[in-house]
Amino acid sequence: MSAPKKDYRPETRLVHAGTLRSQFGEMSEALFLTQGYIYPSAEECEARFSGKIPGYVYSRYSNPTMSMFEQRMAALEGAEAARSTSTGMAAVTTALMGLVRGGDHIVASKAMFGSCRWVIEDWLGRFGVTSTLVDGADLDQWKKAATKNTKVFFMETPTNPTLQVYDIAAVAEIAHAAGAKLVVDNVFATPLYQSPLKLGADVVVYSATKHIDGQGRVLGGCILGSEKVIVDNYHQLLRQTGPSLSPFNAWVLLKGLETLSVRVARETESAAKIADRLAGHDKLTRLVYPGRKDHPQAATVAKQMSGGSSLIALEVKGGKEGAFRFLNGLSLIGITNNLGDAKSLITHPTTTTHQRLTPEQRAELGIGDGLVRLSIGLEHVDDLIDDLLGALEKV
Ligand SMILES: Cc1ncc(COP(=O)(O)O)c(C=O)c1O
Repeated sequence: MSAPKKDYRPETRLVHAGTLRSQFGEMSEALFLTQGYIYPSAEECEARFSGKIPGYVYSRYSNPTMSMFEQRMAALEGAEAARSTSTGMAAVTTALMGLVRGGDHIVASKAMFGSCRWVIEDWLGRFGVTSTLVDGADLDQWKKAATKNTKVFFMETPTNPTLQVYDIAAVAEIAHAAGAKLVVDNVFATPLYQSPLKLGADVVVYSATKHIDGQGRVLGGCILGSEKVIVDNYHQLLRQTGPSLSPFNAWVLLKGLETLSVRVARETESAAKIADRLAGHDKLTRLVYPGRKDHPQAATVAKQMSGGSSLIALEVKGGKEGAFRFLNGLSLIGITNNLGDAKSLITHPTTTTHQRLTPEQRAELGIGDGLVRLSIGLEHVDDLIDDLLGALEKV
């Protein structure tokens, strides 16, 4: 195994960390498409099963290609341990379920991806886990929501789709004072621009489907934390329930990680230019971009993020009709519900990712019918600006 020295910078870790080289000395990471393993003897089989000697036993538990992805993610995040999952939602669901039992309580910010909200309110609710949703920017609300049964604080920052940014260090302190753990969904920031574990979070989760693949091919997820947190709460849960990442997807994601830093840097640079070009446009009523001085939590962005975002939230005049005219007026940027891709993409949250919420719940989160979420890709920035300005003319 070629483990890079600990002090390599993130870009270098993304290319080299976690590589397990087989006896053939392959340059590129091997794809181990195997469900199981053959043991040299019955004794070794018994010893591996009992954990007396290390080694792979079954690919629901682990597989060398999954291990390479997990070790590269851990090296990037500065985490002691990582576990891969089949999707981002498998990572979020496992991260939460591993920390609670019936009767426990979760405090979470209201602004989050629709499926995460369903897991917290509907799914975990079936097992007697209660929850309180708060305005993530209001530290008093986090404090007041904690009860003696609170085991988890959960937040996503920047939030999907309104790009609000919450103070991870301050919320971690409140969570720990309440005897709870903080889980952060770091999808929008990517591991390059925000390090929740270093800011005091206990667990960080990713949908690797987004920037980590970044080329629209596979789904995947990852849970990271200290060795103790991962082993005590997730190791058995993942092995026995089986939301495992396929080795093929792990291999695609490993290759995605190699180019993550250049893709995200370029996408962010273009997004910042586009945000500046569109800000104040007469067909827009609002533009939110982490990194601009007018971002509602600009001080928190400056404190905890080392880069902006490849995403921009825009509110178009004319509500849903205006937004649809804008979306339908685009010829280069694709209408979808995905994000973090080499291709620029646009989403109308009210009719897709946040469709399940009531109009009142959406209004509370600042998700109006005219809101669209723009994910900037790798096209030439001037082509994107032309496409956006042309479509705004049609609003
Ligand atoms: C913030 C956030 N968390 C989690 C997920 C879920 O990821 P996946 O689609 O890989 O299950 C998404 C997907 O859009 C997301 O935006």
